[in-house]
Amino acid sequence: MRPKPGIETIQPYQGGKPIEEVQRELGISDIIKLASNENPLGPSPLAMDAIQEAATQVNLYPDGNAYYLKQELAAHLGVAPEQLILGNGSNEVLQLVGETYISPGDRVIYSESAFVVYMLVAKVFGAKAIITPMDGYTQDLAAMADAITDQTRVIFIANPNNPTGTMVTKTETEKLMACVPDDVLVVFDEAYYEYVDRPDYPQTLPYIHDGRNVIITRTFSKIYGLAGMRIGYGLAKPDIIETMNRVRQPFNCNLVAQAAARAALKDAEHVRRSQAVNAAGKAFLYEALDQMGLEYVESEGNFILVHFDRAGDEISDALMRKGVIVRPVAGYGFPNSIRVTIGTPEENERFVSGLKAVLGNA
Ligand SMILES: Cc1ncc(COP(=O)(O)O)c(C=O)c1O
Repeated sequence: MRPKPGIETIQPYQGGKPIEEVQRELGISDIIKLASNENPLGPSPLAMDAIQEAATQVNLYPDGNAYYLKQELAAHLGVAPEQLILGNGSNEVLQLVGETYISPGDRVIYSESAFVVYMLVAKVFGAKAIITPMDGYTQDLAAMADAITDQTRVIFIANPNNPTGTMVTKTETEKLMACVPDDVLVVFDEAYYEYVDRPDYPQTLPYIHDGRNVIITRTFSKIYGLAGMRIGYGLAKPDIIETMNRVRQPFNCNLVAQAAARAALKDAEHVRRSQAVNAAGKAFLYEALDQMGLEYVESEGNFILVHFDRAGDEISDALMRKGVIVRPVAGYGFPNSIRVTIGTPEENERFVSGLKAVLGNA
């Protein structure tokens, strides 16, 4: 059976082995996973309670319109519920952008070394991907502006970007937005929004209030510690949301995830603690990497791209044998690098001592 054109060129997503399987194969029991930019503190206790309670109701379909979650999220963000769409992870919202707005042959702009899902969405919907070069480790918004043509439909920007951890600034964003015509949708993927503390980070919500064709995607997977629940959202003006809602499957966000997200929103202290643990972990890792003489990219997220003088695959395999799972990133154009998620203080120390052992400078 022949698939749609373009599908054969997609490499299937390479998920890591389950921790239990790695433990069994290597005969080690205390493996830590610093590979998927999850919150090492786990979810808020309020979310865990809500999950247990919601579990008793899973014989029922969820509220397909997520009425309460939308109300509460809207209040939290200072927007109207009609400006929100929920997804099975923010990935689904990115997919819905493609389903709603990308036709075969349309041009879609994103950067080299940007989050992989933009490439997937472009291919699945038959778009021609216009991939702009990076400026160092940062997405080059000026190059994106130059790449816009009459056929451009969507521009994807990850801010901050995964796997580089870099962000684009307010000034760069303003310059790009001044060049974007009205029939182009700009997607600001802000999965790591809550981790950023730089004053020159662009606040993109005003573009939506100004009626621009912008969609912001955010998630409960990262700072809210609910990656396994699969819940994220998009923010845009009501007509865009209304259009995307026509395409969305009615029960795309499950009942337990909705309950968990509502409870997580109520725990501002958990978010603050997660930010503090991340900031302290980042400082610790920078210092340790400096001491080891390793180069890395300064990150605005909860992960760091680290460079080596040999293959990242080799480093990550060797670390795995020491019970530390990190992510090789050759597929993003960094064959000699790995991406490590910032963990708890204990996890960060395990990573550093494992890395020292692997590099032979323990
Ligand atoms: C930049 C970026 N966007 C979106 C996502 C998707 O997150 P989720 O679908 O869990 O909301 C990720 C996950 O790693 C990411 O790094």
